[in-house]
Amino acid sequence: MVKASLGSVFAERILYVSLTMTDQGRRGPGCAWFVIPVKVGAVIQFENVGLRYGMGTEVLRDVSFQVPPRSFQFLTGPSGAGKTTLLRLLFMSLKPTRGLISVFGKDRARISPRELPLMRRRIGVVFQDFRLLDHLTTYENVALPLRVRGRDEASYRQDVIELLKWVGLGERMHVLPPVLSGGEKQRAAIARALIEQPDVLLADEPTGNVDPPLARRLLRLFMELNRLGTAVVIATHDLTLMDQVDARRMVLTGGRLDIYD
Ligand SMILES: Nc1ncnc2c1ncn2[C@@H]1O[C@H](COP(=O)(O)OP(=O)(O)OP(=O)(O)O)[C@@H](O)[C@H]1O
Ligand SMILES: [Mg+2]
Repeated sequence: MVKASLGSVFAERILYVSLTMTDQGRRGPGCAWFVIPVKVGAVIQFENVGLRYGMGTEVLRDVSFQVPPRSFQFLTGPSGAGKTTLLRLLFMSLKPTRGLISVFGKDRARISPRELPLMRRRIGVVFQDFRLLDHLTTYENVALPLRVRGRDEASYRQDVIELLKWVGLGERMHVLPPVLSGGEKQRAAIARALIEQPDVLLADEPTGNVDPPLARRLLRLFMELNRLGTAVVIATHDLTLMDQVDARRMVLTGGRLDIYD
């Protein structure tokens, strides 16, 4: 169970949330404090989006959907169906070859390169291949988005440590990623995606490298983040994972998207 307590309210309805993770009644590896901004109206919208790589055939065709604020959805489909490609469009690391994408109410085509990092800060991503920097420790990898922003380490050190403890990496925070197991890398990547308290969390096969009990705990983490206001999109093949939640399913087949609410 995850326990949440609310504190003071700012203009954007900031929730001060204490998350304590437990698994089947046992106390979890640690406790983390988050400050989660809940921004009403956060939404991503696709209208008739198509994407082709180079001169190839379209990987995505006429894809239309919305990620409503505070929503929770799985994105599924066979290998090569375009799940990672769709997440890259959501994260704005790819531009569509046709159609309209609107991100937090703004037309993707009109977002300038200068604005892009600010918009991306509101979207946390767990990449399928983790993308941890091998020369930085686990702690430094998770803290990196804040460091890049010029934040003073004293202002975030405790948050990073508590988040790492919470995902069960308290003992591994000073080691380099090459000595982490696949599941540990996965959890470090999740912690890095959460450290900026995003409005939307995109996770690409986030349970692909962990055992079933840890997969359940990670799923509960995503659900709790969602309950607190973060929209969540999880790309997965894992039917057992999807069967644990009565969530919207977005299914990609042959470049087209079907949605089952
Ligand atoms: N950078 C790229 N250049 C050219 N083709 C690409 C590129 N990235 C992906 N593709 C192709 O686009 C298609 C969709 O790939 P994508 O990685 O989005 O699928 P996926 O559903 O995430 O697959 P998996 O379940 O294996 O992760 C595949 O046919 C893939 O070969
Ligand atoms: Mg993929």
